[in-house]
Amino acid sequence: MQASAIAHPNVALIKYWGKRDTGSNLPATGSLSLTLAGIETLTRVEFASESGTDQLTVNGQPDSRAAARVSHCLDQLRALAGAGGSATVDSENNFPTGAGLASSASGYAALVAAAAAALGIDGHEQELTNIARQGSGSAPRSLYDGIVLLENQDTGVRCRSVCAPDEWPLSVVVAVTSHAAKAVGSTEGMERSRMTSPYYGAWVNSHAADLQTALNCVEQRDFAQLAELSEHSCLKMHALALSSRPPLMYWNAATVAAMQVVTELRASGTPVFFTVDAGPQVKAVCEPDAVPAVREALQNVPGVIELIECTLGRGARPV
Ligand code: PMV
Repeated sequence: MQASAIAHPNVALIKYWGKRDTGSNLPATGSLSLTLAGIETLTRVEFASESGTDQLTVNGQPDSRAAARVSHCLDQLRALAGAGGSATVDSENNFPTGAGLASSASGYAALVAAAAAALGIDGHEQELTNIARQGSGSAPRSLYDGIVLLENQDTGVRCRSVCAPDEWPLSVVVAVTSHAAKAVGSTEGMERSRMTSPYYGAWVNSHAADLQTALNCVEQRDFAQLAELSEHSCLKMHALALSSRPPLMYWNAATVAAMQVVTELRASGTPVFFTVDAGPQVKAVCEPDAVPAVREALQNVPGVIELIECTLGRGARPV
């Protein structure tokens, strides 16, 4: 009873920030994301026949902070399969962990895909989506290909791919400005924003319209309008973070400089826009032909340590 799976991180264009039910990890809003090939989590899960304590390593080190959430997901997978004793989980990321590159999304997606394969679970797409969601709110999006819509439902969420990677090839150049793990994780940050930001109600109320307009942009392959709207959603999310008490500032000087460089590039005709999550890295989404110009501009920004190039990728799968 063992299997391995690969999953990629994803980056949201229409962001999720805030939960409607913290205990069940249900998001307050839907979201729209890109699954990113080029960076990945590889996870191996092995189930013993006897029950006991699950063991978890991330990048070769025991990870006690994530252990309870991982076991919670595994419990539901064991219940769905009606089988499986204690699990040994070994997970490796080929990119910085816990630094705003969605390692939790790819981590929980790879965990669910590997454990489901090891337990012989076939189908059950919606159940697996909602098990991944309990690990990390953005994780279910990494189970799906290309451009992915996450929608709220009464008791859970539903995800689907709205555009396959080859239907609208897009590239993402990630400007890494720090390898440090973030000080305030997204769960704590979201809760702080919900409780204290005066803008939280406006964020939730304006979200459905953003999501619908973004879906129309994808359907029409309207890069220019998607660019403007994605940057708006990103900055609106960071406005919530900044207006929380105590404030959450996920940016450093290089983050801001890189965002400004992307803005200038687009103003001069290059099809590119930025998005930033709960960390200081800048993700520049562009048409593939624009990659050389985007790389050149970002690598000259003081404080940019490294560039990582991604394309749209497939959802999590056993290997
Ligand atoms: O899934 P979490 O809890 O890591 O939250 C993700 C939050 C953002 O990355 C900032 C936004 C998003 O929609 O991915």
